[in-house]
Amino acid sequence: MLLQTLTTLNYRNLAPATLHFPAGVSAVWGPNGAGKTNLLEAVYLALTGLSDVGRLEQLVQQGEKEAYVRADLLQGGSLSVLEVGLGRGRRTLKADGVRVRGLELPRGSAVWIRPEDSELVFGGPSLRRAYLDELLSRISARYAQQLSRYERAVAQRNAALRAGEEWAMPIWEETLIKLGSEIMEVRRRAVSRLAELAAAANAALGSAKPLKLELVETTTPETFRADFARRAAEERARGSTVIGPHRDDLGLTLGDFAAGDYASRGEARTIALALRKAELDLLQERFGEMPLLLIDDFSAELDPARRAFLLTMAASVPQAIVTGTEEAPGAVQSLSAEAGTFSPAPTESGEPEQAPIAGQVVA
Ligand SMILES: Nc1ncnc2c1ncn2[C@@H]1O[C@H](COP(=O)(O)OP(=O)(O)O)[C@@H](O)[C@H]1O
Ligand SMILES: [Mg+2]
Repeated sequence: MLLQTLTTLNYRNLAPATLHFPAGVSAVWGPNGAGKTNLLEAVYLALTGLSDVGRLEQLVQQGEKEAYVRADLLQGGSLSVLEVGLGRGRRTLKADGVRVRGLELPRGSAVWIRPEDSELVFGGPSLRRAYLDELLSRISARYAQQLSRYERAVAQRNAALRAGEEWAMPIWEETLIKLGSEIMEVRRRAVSRLAELAAAANAALGSAKPLKLELVETTTPETFRADFARRAAEERARGSTVIGPHRDDLGLTLGDFAAGDYASRGEARTIALALRKAELDLLQERFGEMPLLLIDDFSAELDPARRAFLLTMAASVPQAIVTGTEEAPGAVQSLSAEAGTFSPAPTESGEPEQAPIAGQVVA
């Protein structure tokens, strides 16, 4: 899959523009606050429909009411256009001009590597569930749909628990068991493959300690019903559903220890990078096409092994966008970022830019 152009209007601090992206590595570099992260965020949003921003209004340029992002892609030999409209807390997605709900993806596929990925290791279980759920939702529209139904049912059961509506419990429990078991089965299959890929990436990063990934489940499809009975008093006291995939975790063990409790900062960054590499590999396996790779702030990575790994990864995929305060080496296109604009600059390697589309910035 190749991104050909990205068009933004009123997106954060980005000046309205259409940016062209050739195959290979595009380096986007410039000072802090220039809009490099915002650019990658816009690409990721257009391609996946996903954003981890709590309030969508944050994505709209201050003083404006609506924002728009459009990605033109070459996918499986044909062109497709993905559009996102943002305004008044709403997000509208279109694929080739037709309105789609988030669930009706798959859209493009992209992997976004960010300095704050270490939070996957040190943060709470919800971040690791989000990592897993976003990945599986991109692979399977059915997973996305079952997950959103499941989450809605949990919220409704919790409300019923708090309202003391005992008569409703058997109905909600059957719904949760059915949807939840399917979610667990998909996660189990995916995590067994993801674990192999992440372990291999961790070793390739030069880590001496083996990395282990496993689902930490609060119940199982086999024991779900019995566990509801066993935890009945606790759930009624708390007014919330304490078992099920919405409470599960992706356990990370480095060597003999739980990574979240014992890993060093550097080890956590290595683990997070291994998780992103595993994500890239899994998407590639499932789609038969390498996703677009977005690497944010490679220059913040000072460790030589991780920096080399990042740059090798960028060079090995059909297309990558790599941001930094300095230009990423080996780029075919160089865009210098300043105050929300991205201007073509000669690449460091001095190679001619790919004619005719590379480097043009059309207002
Ligand atoms: N909704 C918005 N409207 C206008 N400016 C915004 C908006 N959201 C963020 N910004 C600005 O974008 C800039 C940060 O851009 P960012 O992409 O994070 O920079 P960097 O190049 O360092 O990655 C900040 O100066 C911030 O004020
Ligand atoms: Mg940034």
